[in-house]
Amino acid sequence: MTFKRHTVTAALPYANGPVHIGHLAGVYVPADIYVRFLRLQKKDVLFICGSDELGVPITLRAKKEGVTPKDIVDRYHSMIKKSFQQFGISFTHYSRTSSPIHWETSSEFFKSLYEQGVFTEEVNQQYYDEQSQLFLADRYIQGTCPHCGFESAYGDQCENCGSSLSPSDLKNPKSMLSGKAPVLKETKHWYLPMDRYEDWLKKYILEGHQEWKTNVYGQCKSWIDQGLKPRAMTRDLDWGVPVPLAEARGKVLYVWFDAPIGYISATKEWAAANDKAWEPYWKDQDTRLVHFIGKDNIVFHCIIFPVILKAHGDYILPDNVPANEFLNLEGDKISTSRNWAVWLHEYLEELPGKEDVLRYVLCANAPETKDNDFTWKEFQARNNNELVAIFGNFINRAVVLTHKYFEGKVPAAGTFYDLDQEVISRLKDYPGQIAASLESFRFREALNLMMEVARLGNKYLADTEPWKVIKQDEQRVGTILNLSLQIAGSLAVLAAPFLPKTSEKLSQMLGLTGLTWAQAGGQSLVPVGQKLGKPVLLFEKIEDVVVNQQVAKLEATKKNNTTVITPGKSEIAFEDFLKMDIRIGRIIAAEKVPKSKKLLKLQVDTGLDQRTVVSGIAQYYSPEQVIGQSVTVLLNLAPRKIMGIESQGMVLMAEHPDGTFSFLQPDKQMDPGGEVS
Ligand code: MF3
Ligand code: ZN
Repeated sequence: MTFKRHTVTAALPYANGPVHIGHLAGVYVPADIYVRFLRLQKKDVLFICGSDELGVPITLRAKKEGVTPKDIVDRYHSMIKKSFQQFGISFTHYSRTSSPIHWETSSEFFKSLYEQGVFTEEVNQQYYDEQSQLFLADRYIQGTCPHCGFESAYGDQCENCGSSLSPSDLKNPKSMLSGKAPVLKETKHWYLPMDRYEDWLKKYILEGHQEWKTNVYGQCKSWIDQGLKPRAMTRDLDWGVPVPLAEARGKVLYVWFDAPIGYISATKEWAAANDKAWEPYWKDQDTRLVHFIGKDNIVFHCIIFPVILKAHGDYILPDNVPANEFLNLEGDKISTSRNWAVWLHEYLEELPGKEDVLRYVLCANAPETKDNDFTWKEFQARNNNELVAIFGNFINRAVVLTHKYFEGKVPAAGTFYDLDQEVISRLKDYPGQIAASLESFRFREALNLMMEVARLGNKYLADTEPWKVIKQDEQRVGTILNLSLQIAGSLAVLAAPFLPKTSEKLSQMLGLTGLTWAQAGGQSLVPVGQKLGKPVLLFEKIEDVVVNQQVAKLEATKKNNTTVITPGKSEIAFEDFLKMDIRIGRIIAAEKVPKSKKLLKLQVDTGLDQRTVVSGIAQYYSPEQVIGQSVTVLLNLAPRKIMGIESQGMVLMAEHPDGTFSFLQPDKQMDPGGEVS
C-alpha cells in the first residue's frame, strides 16, 4: 500500500505539569524525527498534538495547589507549548482539549455512537464521598494494596508493586477528599462493549498488524487474550466535556474517550485556520495514521480508540502505534510529583543552544525495546566523544581545510582511486539503510548509521591525510576535499531529522538550501566552485562543572523528598521561637465563608478566650467535621482580615505528600489552654 498522506500524532501531554525528558525520549523526539524524515521526502504530513486538559489528573493537581483546574491548564498549556517550540518539535498544529472545537467534536462523536446504539447502559455501585457529595474517581481513593500490602495504593493502581487495581480491590478504602471511608452508591454510565469487538480486534491487530513492534503487539495480544470487558465512557466528575444526554446531567465524557478524539479536533482547528480540508487526513484510505505514545498508552490507542473509530464508521484506523518503554533518570523512575525529572523548560534555560545534544542523547539511548536510564555522565560522554569528536570534528576539518587550501571554494574532483571508490559506494548505501531503519521505527539504529557516515568522513580524512599531500599534489587534495564535502552535504540531509538545528547550521556553511532526502548519498550535492560559509563549531565540549551542577540539583531534590523539614529556611534563635504563643485550643463552631471554596470561619476556645480564626481547610474538612476537634493555634499572630473577616491567629496544619492536611492534636485528652513549647 502506498500512502498519499500521513497523519502523525504524538500523545497529548497532560497539562498538569511541565514536559520532562521521559516524555521527550518516549514520544516527542521519535515522532519529530519520523515527521522530519517524511517531510524531507516531500510527503504530505500532518503532525498533530495538543494539551490534554480534562480528567482527573488535572483536578488532582489543582486540588494540591489549591487553585482551579482552569488555572492549572492555562499555566501548563502555555509552558508546554512554548518549550516544545523552542526545542524544535515541529508540530503542524498544537491544540488543547479545552477548545470549543474539541468539545463539539467529542460530544458529536459520543452522540453518534449513542444514536447508533453502540453503548450499553449500566447502573452500578460506585464509591461516593458523602461528605464532599461526590462520586470518587479511582485516583481519589486510597487504600491497602491486596497484592503487596502497600497502604497508599490508588483505586486504579498500586505505585509500589505496579498492579493495576480497581477501587473495590482496595482494603480499607479511604476518600482522599475527606479521609473518610467512602460508601457505595448507585450511578448510571454508558459503556463501550469492548467484548463485542474481540473478533474484530483479533483480525485488525493480531492478524492485520503483525509488523507492529513486539512490545506493542505483545501487550495487545495479552489484553485481547485475557478477554475484554465493557468500559464506561462517562464519569461522575465536574471537569470534562458534558455528556450530551438529558439524563446524564452532571456527568462528563471519560477522558480517554475525549482525549484521542483531540487529534481529530486539532486537525479541524488547523484546517479551519489554514483554509484546508481536515477530512482527507482522517477518512481517506490512502492516509496513513501513526500514533506515537508511551507504553502506558498502548491499550487506549491500539484497542479503545480503534473501537471508537470503527464503531463510529467512516474513519481510518491507526496503521502503526510505535510505543516506547520508559526512560529512568539516574537509576530512579521519573516522577512529576517527586520532582525527579529533567524538565524541558529548565534544560532550555540552563543549557541554551544545546537542544540537539539532548535530542541526540535521548535518541541514542531511547527506550525502544526496554526501559532505559538517562545519566548526566552519559550525556556528557556522548556529547564529547561522539558529537564533538566525530561529527563536529569531521565537518570542521573538511570546511577549514577547504578555506585554507582553496579559498573556501569547493574544489573539483579528479581521478578516484580504489579508496575513494569504496567511500563513494558506502556513502551511496547509507540513505537507504537509514530510511529502512526509520520506516520500521528503529530510531537508535538509524542514528547510529547516520553517525557512521560521520565516522566514514573522519576515517577518510585520516587515511588520505590531505594536510600532508598538499605539499606535493594539490589536485589530489581537491579530490579528497570535494568528496569530504559531499559526505558533509549528505550529513546535512541525513542528520536533519535527528539534529535539525545542527543540520541548519551545516547547510548554511555548505551553502545548501531546500534539502531533500533524495539528494543524500550523491556526489554533486555540494556543487564545485560553491563558496563555503565561515567555519562554525557545531558542538562544544561539555565540561564537568556543567553536568556536576545538574547532578547536584537532582541530589538536592532527593534530600527535599526525604526530609520533613523543607530546607531553605534560615536558622532562628531560641528567643525567636519563644516569641510565639502556641496553645492547644478546641473548635467550638465552624461555618463556610460565603463565596470562598477554601475558607472556613472557626470559633476557637483557646483557654484564654474564644476567638475567630479563618482557615484554608474547606476543601479537606466540612464544618461538621471540625467542630469539637482539638487543634494547635498560634495565638499572637497579628490579626489579619481575610475576605472581610478578622482572623485572630492561625490553626497549625501539617501537609501530607498528596497535598491534603491534618490537624496537629495532643495524643492525650487535653483542655484548651495547654501551652506548646
Ligand atoms: N495525556 C495522556 C498521557 O499523558 C495521553 C493522552 S493521548 C490521547 O498519558 F490520545 F489520549 F490524547
Ligand atoms: Zn501493591
